[in-house]
Amino acid sequence: MKDLLDYLQSRRSALALTLNHPAPDAGQIRTMIKIASRVPDHGKLAPWRFVEYPRTIREELAAEFRQLSDQKPDTKTRQSRNKQIENFQNAPLVIGAISCPVESPKVPEWEQILSAGATCMQLLMAANALGFEAQWLSGFYMFDKKASKLLGLLETEKLAGMIHIGSSDVAKNERARPELVDIFSVFAKQE
Ligand SMILES: Cc1cc2nc3c(=O)[nH]c(=O)nc-3n(C[C@H](O)[C@H](O)[C@H](O)COP(=O)(O)O)c2cc1C
Repeated sequence: MKDLLDYLQSRRSALALTLNHPAPDAGQIRTMIKIASRVPDHGKLAPWRFVEYPRTIREELAAEFRQLSDQKPDTKTRQSRNKQIENFQNAPLVIGAISCPVESPKVPEWEQILSAGATCMQLLMAANALGFEAQWLSGFYMFDKKASKLLGLLETEKLAGMIHIGSSDVAKNERARPELVDIFSVFAKQE
């Protein structure tokens, strides 16, 4: 367990643009998805699903995304979107984690969405466990209805994350983390 503790205390995401081949093979992808589905899931609803976007299809999608992006009048938005599209197109492997809440008399939608978020974190860790690097990204396509449709999402679904996965030997610097005092307290009742 010490190894796991060390990992959890030091883990970092890679920067997507530093990711190269090799990427996980088909068997490793299946292993990662199985791990990603082992998240807390109230009521066993499995309110999420995963989609691999193969490179050739990403090229087509990127062209369609660029058309959407070109409709934006301001240069800054267009440039930022084009960078996201480039990352999406070039990553060695991209897996979309999709939140698909279902009607449930017992489990509120919010809980189901949180469970989808947990799958993204689990995917990152599964990639690390197999010796790969990964980053959880969003991008304009997460919030744009037309882009979501192009990605195969139903009206009732939302992208929880585009997980970019590959290999990288670029050193990862420590990232500033919040001080414990700012994020943790022991509850005390006000008199
Ligand atoms: C839902 C979600 C979406 C994110 N989207 C982006 C993004 O589009 N671009 C980006 O640079 N970081 C994004 N991040 C942040 C990175 O995934 C991550 O926080 C950063 O790389 C540092 O991660 P680490 O603490 O695991 O090292 C997103 C994080 C979350 C939770």
